[in-house]
Amino acid sequence: MSCSCFGSSSVLKKRHDKRANESTQAEEGVSISKTKNFTYNSLVGATNNFHRSNKIGRGGFGTVYKGVLKNGREVAVKVLSAESKQGEREFMTEIDTISDVKHPHLVELLGCCVYGHNRILVYEYLENSSIDRALLSFRKSINLEWEKRSAICMGTARGLAYLHEELVPHIVHRDIKASNILLDENFQPKIGDFGLAKLFPDNITHISTRIAGTTGYLAPEYVLGGQLTLKADVYSFGVLTLEIVSGRSSGNSDYGGGQKLLIEWAWELYEQGKLLDLVDPELEEFPKDVVTRYMKVALFCTQANASRRPLMSQVTEMLSRNVKLNEDQLTPPSFFDDSDRQSGKTSKNKSSDTSTSRQMSSFPITITEVAPR
Ligand SMILES: Nc1ncnc2c1ncn2[C@@H]1O[C@H](COP(=O)(O)OP(=O)(O)OP(=O)(O)O)[C@@H](O)[C@H]1O
Ligand SMILES: [Mg+2]
Repeated sequence: MSCSCFGSSSVLKKRHDKRANESTQAEEGVSISKTKNFTYNSLVGATNNFHRSNKIGRGGFGTVYKGVLKNGREVAVKVLSAESKQGEREFMTEIDTISDVKHPHLVELLGCCVYGHNRILVYEYLENSSIDRALLSFRKSINLEWEKRSAICMGTARGLAYLHEELVPHIVHRDIKASNILLDENFQPKIGDFGLAKLFPDNITHISTRIAGTTGYLAPEYVLGGQLTLKADVYSFGVLTLEIVSGRSSGNSDYGGGQKLLIEWAWELYEQGKLLDLVDPELEEFPKDVVTRYMKVALFCTQANASRRPLMSQVTEMLSRNVKLNEDQLTPPSFFDDSDRQSGKTSKNKSSDTSTSRQMSSFPITITEVAPR
């Protein structure tokens, strides 16, 4: 399978109903692409001069503000601060490519602004923020019932399957995590920040060192060996699914009486046959068999050996249908733990004594059997 970190616009699927540009020439800054160019002044107006009361958040690439355009449309305005080595033209080429990628489960890039040293991305605004705020934060305001959580997992899986398997060349997101899954007014998920990997190509440090908690999502072969494949995203998706089911964040915490990562705890519970203990206590009613299947699919996604992890299209299949999983093919996860690195260690291959002997044959393996109806 051909795979690159980022696609080229010439071969990406084009949408015929491409939106008309509000203005073809920017009043300020440059206008060298087919992507909508917002003027700097229009974004100053939309965000009340990037006023801190409009600040929604800050990530490794910059600060995000909520804005309202003159036509009343709400937008998320991301002022990039991370240094890109790209020149304007190259930057705009990449932006063109990102804005060509459309899918119901991907956050739409509406346009950008290049003004002096400022580089700003303008996205559609998602009303219900990101999963980390909606579900994982102490200040979470809503209790998401199982149907919503399951739709979030499914939608995210579909968005990723599109990036990985439908787009040519494929896009590896590289930064799948709760803050990059935005929720619309109906709590449908949209994956944000895809394509930024190409704007900041060697930015593994952005992910692995700058943002506490992110490392819980990172496939060890990526963070330790720099191997970025589709399967690194699959790994992160597995961790995200465990977060959504458990309502807890992936980072180190006191799980089951000891400091460990969510994925470690999940595997322990799996080995003890107590996987349902992982489920969010705030979930009052849920179909036990379905929720268990979701957690097992997540464990398939986080296996130490990347080649044993399923493709995202297989994941959508496993989540959506009542399939019986071939659990004798399931091998233990491995993970990269930030706290380990600080104490001089690198990664753990969390496993029982039998685990190494259970990491065996190469893909393809049959993960599922269709359950008898
Ligand atoms: N389109 C959007 N609509 C609504 N809120 C958004 C949007 N994009 C981002 N946000 C909010 O802004 C916050 C910061 O986003 P940002 O992408 O800058 O950082 P991050 O996702 O935490 O880290 P990273 O830089 O790795 O993506 C997010 O947690 C989210 O709550
Ligand atoms: Mg983000």
